[in-house]
Amino acid sequence: MKSNRSYIIIIVVCLLLIGLVLIVTQSKKKDYLTRGKMSYEKHCANCHGIKGEGLQLLIPPLTDPTWTQNDSIACIIKYGMEGKIMVNGKEYNNRMTGNAVIENDEIADLVSYIRKEFTQMPKRMTLKVAGEQILKCK
Ligand code: HEC
Repeated sequence: MKSNRSYIIIIVVCLLLIGLVLIVTQSKKKDYLTRGKMSYEKHCANCHGIKGEGLQLLIPPLTDPTWTQNDSIACIIKYGMEGKIMVNGKEYNNRMTGNAVIENDEIADLVSYIRKEFTQMPKRMTLKVAGEQILKCK
């Protein structure tokens, strides 16, 4: 009888632990997108718009995977860009200043958020990939 009861206690404790682990991993998952959103609203939304819609022919939208999936998106965020570009079939010829102080982990969250919210390709950017892109910036 006594050992039966301790089995039950062990099983209950295990279930509680599994539940706890699930809750923690789920909230971590949400976390990077929440951080990405905050960072987007702080550094990008003033120009690109709260929904990444851009502004007329002055500022391009962030909905074109040619740019959001591009291997140089981390460089654009950090160092900016200028010159003629095509976005969603429209031509833009302007200049974006960079964010020199932004860290790689913030870039990763930011790009993950943009891809998830504004494009059909919600591929998460990892810290590792952000670092690799930054090393290759020209
Ligand atoms: C001061 C206004 C401004 C801010 C702030 C700004 N951008 Fe830009 N961004 C531009 C302009 C203008 C261009 C087009 C540059 C060109 O014509 O070559 C651009 C181009 C881009 C592009 C490539 C084209 C496209 O639309 O996909 C990406 C990606 C981008 N910006 C991402 C970001 C992100 C992410 C942030 C926040 C970290 C940001 N930008 C902040 C003005 C801005």
